[in-house]
Amino acid sequence: MDSNWREKRLYPILGVFTIFCFLYLNFKDDLSFTFPVITWNLPHMSFVGVNHTRFVTHLQEEVYVNGWNSYWLMEESVRGPSSRSRVSKMLKKGSQMGLTVCRTWAFSDGPGSADLQIRPGVFNERVFKALDYVLVEARRHRIRLILSLVNNLNAYGGKAQYVSWAEEAGINVSSSTDSFFSDPTIKGYYKSYVKAIVTRKNSYTGILYSEEPSIFAWELMNEPRCESISSAPVLQDWITEMAAFVKSLDQKHLVTVGLEGFYGSKLAMNYGTNPGDWAASLGSDFITNSAIKDIDFASVHAYPHSWIPEADLEAKVKYLSNWADAHISDSENVLKKPVLFTEVGAPLTINTEGLYDRDILLKIVYDKIYESAKEREAGSGVLIWQLLVEGVEEYSDEFSFVAWKYPSTYKLILEQSSRLQNMSSQGQMS
Ligand SMILES: *[C@@H]1O[C@H](CO)[C@@H](O)[C@H](O)[C@H]1NC(C)=O
Ligand SMILES: *[C@@H]1O[C@H](CO)[C@@H](O)[C@H](O)[C@H]1NC(C)=O
Ligand SMILES: *[C@@H]1O[C@H](CO)[C@@H](O)[C@H](O)[C@H]1NC(C)=O
Repeated sequence: MDSNWREKRLYPILGVFTIFCFLYLNFKDDLSFTFPVITWNLPHMSFVGVNHTRFVTHLQEEVYVNGWNSYWLMEESVRGPSSRSRVSKMLKKGSQMGLTVCRTWAFSDGPGSADLQIRPGVFNERVFKALDYVLVEARRHRIRLILSLVNNLNAYGGKAQYVSWAEEAGINVSSSTDSFFSDPTIKGYYKSYVKAIVTRKNSYTGILYSEEPSIFAWELMNEPRCESISSAPVLQDWITEMAAFVKSLDQKHLVTVGLEGFYGSKLAMNYGTNPGDWAASLGSDFITNSAIKDIDFASVHAYPHSWIPEADLEAKVKYLSNWADAHISDSENVLKKPVLFTEVGAPLTINTEGLYDRDILLKIVYDKIYESAKEREAGSGVLIWQLLVEGVEEYSDEFSFVAWKYPSTYKLILEQSSRLQNMSSQGQMS
């Protein structure tokens, strides 16, 4: 690897300069002007690829993921030095817990002062630098990021903002937000946005995002859903087109959809593991959407408390267990791609035996992944929804927590990290 060679040759020569850069990154308060942080300062990481149903490094070493979500990293980074230290702390703590992948928002669409994309194709450079900072800090802590590119939901603008932009521009779009997936103008907006992100040159490191190994994957959308089931073919075409578009700009990174994993077809073998009939009416389908050629791995979410709220804990456990089995099995046998459970969330409820529901449910999916990994099958990891550090409670929801404040959960996370690291080949993070 040429970058490897360069690092080895230049490390000794530039030692002093490296230390300077390190200090700069740690203690510089005002990052408003651009100073090129020399890339030799950053740890070497390899890109993650896919071999059959497994994630692998370029040396074909298997990678199993214990990871987490902190959607708020860019937004928090915008605010200033003390906020940035919270972002750094989250990544550092994640690394100390043995977590290797963090999923976060690389979008914020709207006219607000902390929004990344103010108008279609127009960016707030200050916010972009905040995202640059997140990437640098991830790299420093050897964390890989899954960067999600737009929201299905209205938070941070989402597809509804894109539709409004088109309306404001006088485009005759239908009032349904499904036009996000079909209207040529809106698809053009999304593509120009994606292009700006993927081809971005990090203002601190000078590294193109497309060349940055601390990015694990691009996620096309957080939880795509349609308003009308008749839009299902439109969503399928959108995923096909957009995945190919990302690949045309970046051949080094993996691409995933961002699905919740619902089965859209009653003919699917595992249709019965859906949380309800409603799940089949959202226009998405785990099998057909994930089967698209340029989609490298499948993604699934799991929220038994939201999806089957009336069920008791025992029923939730059973549901989650079947849900995990179904997706691992379909990924192994039908899709022949790895699968990541990119959001698994449960509330802090304590049951009669003094145990957290969250621990019980999380352990179900952790165990499924471990068992699958032992067989070298498609179940490749879990990302908890979601972790916070002290001082960022405003990003909280009923499934968010500061991990080290809950010793039982903390222990569970550490155990999963340790047994997956054991499964992964030595060079997982090299
Ligand atoms: C994929 O993994 C298999 C089994 O470990 C290995 O034999 C094969 O060479 C790998 N494929 C590539 C393209 O490296
Ligand atoms: C907008 O599109 C609809 C459906 O395609 C069409 O019926 C309508 O006439 C269009 N409106 C204008 C102002 O072009
Ligand atoms: C790691 O693997 C070794 C041998 O394969 C095993 O003895 C040990 O118990 C494992 N540790 C964990 C934490 O799973």
